[in-house]
Amino acid sequence: MWWHDAVIYQIYIRSFQDSDGDGVGDLAGIISRLDHIESLGAAAIWISPPYPSPNADFGYDVTDYTAVDPAYGTLQDFDRLLKAAHERDLRVLLDFVPAHTSIEHPWFRARPSFYFWADTAPNNWRDASGGPAWQRDPETGRYYLHTFSVQQPDLNWRNPEVRAEIGKALRFWLDRGVDGFRLDAVQALMKDRRLRDDPPATDPSVLPLQDEYGRLSHVNSANAPDIGVALRAIRQAAGDSFLVGEAYVPTDQLQPYTQTLDLVFAFEPMNVGPDAKLLETTIAAAHATGKVAWVLSNHDFTRFATRFGASFRAAALLFLSLPGPAFVYQGDELGMIDGPGVDPPQDQVGRDRYRHPMQWDPSPGGGFTTGAPWLPPIDPQRRNVAEQGQDPESALALFRRVIRLRGGLGPGLRFLASPGQTVMFQRGNHLIAANFGRDPAPVIRTGELVLEARRGDGQDPGFLPAGGGWIARV
Ligand code: GLC
Repeated sequence: MWWHDAVIYQIYIRSFQDSDGDGVGDLAGIISRLDHIESLGAAAIWISPPYPSPNADFGYDVTDYTAVDPAYGTLQDFDRLLKAAHERDLRVLLDFVPAHTSIEHPWFRARPSFYFWADTAPNNWRDASGGPAWQRDPETGRYYLHTFSVQQPDLNWRNPEVRAEIGKALRFWLDRGVDGFRLDAVQALMKDRRLRDDPPATDPSVLPLQDEYGRLSHVNSANAPDIGVALRAIRQAAGDSFLVGEAYVPTDQLQPYTQTLDLVFAFEPMNVGPDAKLLETTIAAAHATGKVAWVLSNHDFTRFATRFGASFRAAALLFLSLPGPAFVYQGDELGMIDGPGVDPPQDQVGRDRYRHPMQWDPSPGGGFTTGAPWLPPIDPQRRNVAEQGQDPESALALFRRVIRLRGGLGPGLRFLASPGQTVMFQRGNHLIAANFGRDPAPVIRTGELVLEARRGDGQDPGFLPAGGGWIARV
């Protein structure tokens, strides 16, 4: 399995590299930056949805599953990207959005049975932003279901024709040569057959949810017990290509997804900050599923460097040295932080802060575009690929070093007792230690030092520096 221990690099197309000066990243831009991804040591890229979209949710509202949005290029550009990536041994994963279309997809009018329709809202379901999940369509006077925004009506996966159409779309991309898919919001694919109410939530959610939405327990609006029906249809269409699922459910509910998919994202650990014990317990539980991919951050949540602050290096060392694949979101390797967003906002639900353009060089625009960027750059003069690439002490240098080592760290994941805010674990004949506390911790290093991550200098083998860590061979 090529993905065993792989680093997979997430590209949010719109914000990665613009090639034509329109202020929006594109496929040709990605081709021009493959050097960076290769030198990071990634084995694959995941490209955010490139399909035509009215951009209510920037590509996650699709109007055509088998085309490229002109803002990003053409199908020929896509083929060129595939070829260029494959020539470098980089696999290409496409973000695929099976749970809903855009309200402007022709199916919404031409194939009503592909969606959920009712004369009045049949239950209490809420959408992810907290509003009612049923929206009145002024044209028909009827209500349709949307788990996400009102511009994203849910597809009805109990309809075999839906499964067949999506299967065709998957095969379209596989025939072009993609290596697999990141499957969007798979927990939303199957709902209760009888559309029964969601009961009130009894415990606080372990994953962040919008307030109103989090007040309900989504046992009926999502994550139905027969989710396998949808996943097996996808698997059948996708053959043995690689499938990673975005199943936004707690770790203890991942099993029905891991049964059919190759991997699922480890969202619980991704939502933990510098809290050593919580990191350890959520990581151990996710690892026990046998099929998780570690996620540093992504386009929906607070960035890795913002989440960990002064413990950024300790966190990079920890997440990148865990056994199993790891997803790095563009810019995390520079320690890019959340930005201010923009006014008026681009994203309806407040995620602009995590989507500011990639910072390639110290120029005011960061090398992202020659035009006016769709979101402003944050701080290219402070963090950028060009300068960090020359600096052995940089975040980028640390990422490159750990990524180069990670494949050889050895099997297993055994957490060891360690003091205070430190985490220590063993993989094969390697020990990895990281300190998330504010003070140096009394952790004596044994074995031979392989890599050290620290802020500033000063070596004391009896102490693990605050925010730092090491890998040692024993
Ligand atoms: C996933 C995507 C997110 C999108 C949502 C609806 O969670 O990561 O960006 O808004 O699905 O498609």
